[in-house]
Amino acid sequence: MEAPWSPDQVLSTITNVRTFVVVSHTVPLDGEFSLNDLPGGAGRLDILCRCAVEAFLLSHGIRKDARLHLVIRDQFVITLEGQRLRHLNPDERSTAALLRRALALGGELRLGESARSTAGINVCRTGLAELLEELQAAGAALVLLDEGGEPLRSAPLAEHAAFVLSDHRDFAPQELELLDGVQRVSVGPKWLHGHQCITLVHSELDQREAGWTNGLS
Ligand SMILES: C[S@@+](CC[C@H](N)C(=O)[O-])C[C@H]1O[C@@H](n2cnc3c(N)ncnc32)[C@H](O)[C@@H]1O
Repeated sequence: MEAPWSPDQVLSTITNVRTFVVVSHTVPLDGEFSLNDLPGGAGRLDILCRCAVEAFLLSHGIRKDARLHLVIRDQFVITLEGQRLRHLNPDERSTAALLRRALALGGELRLGESARSTAGINVCRTGLAELLEELQAAGAALVLLDEGGEPLRSAPLAEHAAFVLSDHRDFAPQELELLDGVQRVSVGPKWLHGHQCITLVHSELDQREAGWTNGLS
């Protein structure tokens, strides 16, 4: 049986966890949408589903050392925790069903409250500023994924980096303000989809861990 947990516990165990923060601007807050229309009525929930799959799924297994925070229109943070995650499959529809359930639960929460939705998925009634503050307080160094940043290949990365990216929209000015001054890292000279960036960050970190590269060249 899964032990109870809370975002506070999650954030205090940031060590050795690859953290991603995806800022979503258009997903409906109430979870009232059809799973047959993820790019339309579900406000590009398909993007978040692909990010979740890339953050956690290996060909035959799950990355237990990964964590994904989905910031939904600055109202909710849905956190997926590799260590406890169950029922995540490669298809977008079943992932969307998990996220829809978390959104519906989020609507019942008061500001600052959090609750477990399904195994390894938690939802908290909070926003981006609070999440970034908590991550930093827990020892994470924020890294903004940005095409114009320093090349990931040679970027010095903090041991506990939290990679922040946006959905299909640009970051809003007030979001960029929160990220002012943080390290900016580029995964390559072309604009990519967010989930592709997550894959490339994992790949770079896998290679550093395996000693294939030291991140200096
Ligand atoms: C689909 S992109 C956003 C595209 C942008 N809103 C646009 O329409 O031009 C999603 C996110 O992926 C990240 N991203 C895309 N290409 C990148 C690159 N080459 N290096 C680092 N991050 C990148 C950025 O964080 C961006 O916010």
